[in-house]
Amino acid sequence: VHPLRQDPVRYGDVVTTLAILTAAGSGTRLGHDLPKALVELDGLPLLLHAARRLCASGVIDRIVVTVPSGAGPRVRDLLQNDPAVTVPVEVVDGGGTRQASVAAGLALAAHDDDVVLVHDAARPLAPPALVRRVVAAVRAGYRAVVPGLPVTDTIKLVASAEQLSAADAVHGVEPVTWTVDRTWLRAVQTPQGFDRALLDRAHAAGESRAADESLAATDDAALVEELGEPVHVVPGDDLAVKITTARDLRFAGLLLLEDS
Ligand code: CTP
Ligand code: MG
Repeated sequence: VHPLRQDPVRYGDVVTTLAILTAAGSGTRLGHDLPKALVELDGLPLLLHAARRLCASGVIDRIVVTVPSGAGPRVRDLLQNDPAVTVPVEVVDGGGTRQASVAAGLALAAHDDDVVLVHDAARPLAPPALVRRVVAAVRAGYRAVVPGLPVTDTIKLVASAEQLSAADAVHGVEPVTWTVDRTWLRAVQTPQGFDRALLDRAHAAGESRAADESLAATDDAALVEELGEPVHVVPGDDLAVKITTARDLRFAGLLLLEDS
């Protein structure tokens, strides 16, 4: 029996899993009038694609969606009227950064779930099998689990802006410091899965960064790493690509055709 399982209060017979679906961003780089999570892919808003796949995994007990302020009623209607969204859904106004939005989701949710999954509506095609893989690893005792894929590009570290010479700046070149060994690099996706108590502690400790986009954590696992607690990677999935630009949205359309 894994040590986590020996705690009869938190890991009794019933282990429940909450998914926080982040959808409060504006989608500036996508450049639509609508918030990104409400932009449609194959006739369906991105957040519905994501919520359907969370539900189809069969391992999620309820969903809290972080929404742009004012969009709550519309998002609640969308989710409650979708027959493929089979678990209870709550909405909460997000914050100014992704980190602040996740914190708002955690604050809304009662503390009775054992596992929390954090997933971006911007990754609408993350498949149910990926959701199950992440949750299974958390339930096996890994308290912080992220899906990741090997990196295919060669990655170079460049000098910081202060280290550029005047000539470099004029010519628009950056000196290379180092080529990173990509064998050990992973491009990390969502859903990310956590022991509930650990994620609460990580967000509490990182709270001072949450308001400022330049300081805020871009994923939740970084806050756990900041605590000095272990984070583990499970294999990611090509379908879990993030939609940032208009081209990403067209690419996701192609993936959907391929997948069906
Ligand atoms: N997100 C959020 N609250 C914020 C910012 C982002 O819930 N204040 C969510 C987004 O809705 C998205 C995910 O976090 O699902 C990843 O963010 P990103 O891809 O950066 O989306 P946007 O912030 O909407 O896009 P952009 O940065 O181009 O404006
Ligand atoms: Mg953003």
